[in-house]
Amino acid sequence: MAKRGPRIGYKTKVKGDNRIDQWSALAFGLDLSASTILVFLSEEGLELPILFDQGAKAENIICVERDPNVLARAKWYRKHPKINVYPHDLNVAIPKIVKDGFHIDYANLDFCCQLCVPLVTTLVTLRDSGLVLPGTRLSVTMINGREQPAVIEYCKTEYPVEWLNSMGERMNFAMHVIAGRKYSVTGLGCNKYQSYGTKKNGTTALCGCNMQWSAAEFN
Ligand SMILES: C[S@@+](CC[C@H](N)C(=O)[O-])C[C@H]1O[C@@H](n2cnc3c(N)ncnc32)[C@H](O)[C@@H]1O
Repeated sequence: MAKRGPRIGYKTKVKGDNRIDQWSALAFGLDLSASTILVFLSEEGLELPILFDQGAKAENIICVERDPNVLARAKWYRKHPKINVYPHDLNVAIPKIVKDGFHIDYANLDFCCQLCVPLVTTLVTLRDSGLVLPGTRLSVTMINGREQPAVIEYCKTEYPVEWLNSMGERMNFAMHVIAGRKYSVTGLGCNKYQSYGTKKNGTTALCGCNMQWSAAEFN
């Protein structure tokens, strides 16, 4: 997976609008005071005002961050010492979060990579961890496009072909991987946005796709 977020940070208007849209879809109007929330806050922590506005408590927020430099620069880290910070890749953090006794009500997994093998591995770890359960509301963001053909072939060999019918919408696939065969995926929504740079000037074009879901157990 890519090791860094975009150079210009997460303060653009389009990212800000998307962040609000995402949390509106996940938990609009809900009181989050008793909810456990998993997020990637990055350096800026710009999701925190949204979460606190909805009543979230710092001690119920879990932030995973694999880049120590990001944490070293994050002012929110010093300001809110009760936030549970796991300074690891999510794949490594998941068993530690489980061991600490959490289960997640809301998660916004704002990845900065496209569909790739480490991402799928992380989604599978999440699925098998018991950290997300039926009723967990989940949003995933990833870079749209530029997947390696071998990744698509890998996905086709490992996962049911019907999940791959919607490879154009990678979120659909990601959600089905997390849900596995045990749960159905409901409440799907998908949103694309052009966040940083443009294809035209040769800088990175990132389209995040967000999907909210809640898993309901198959009968
Ligand atoms: C896209 S930014 C988060 C932006 C934030 N959600 C916002 O709305 O401002 C992703 C952050 O999570 C970290 N990150 C990305 N993938 C990760 C992973 N698999 N495990 C742990 N941290 C990750 C990156 O280092 C980066 O700081």
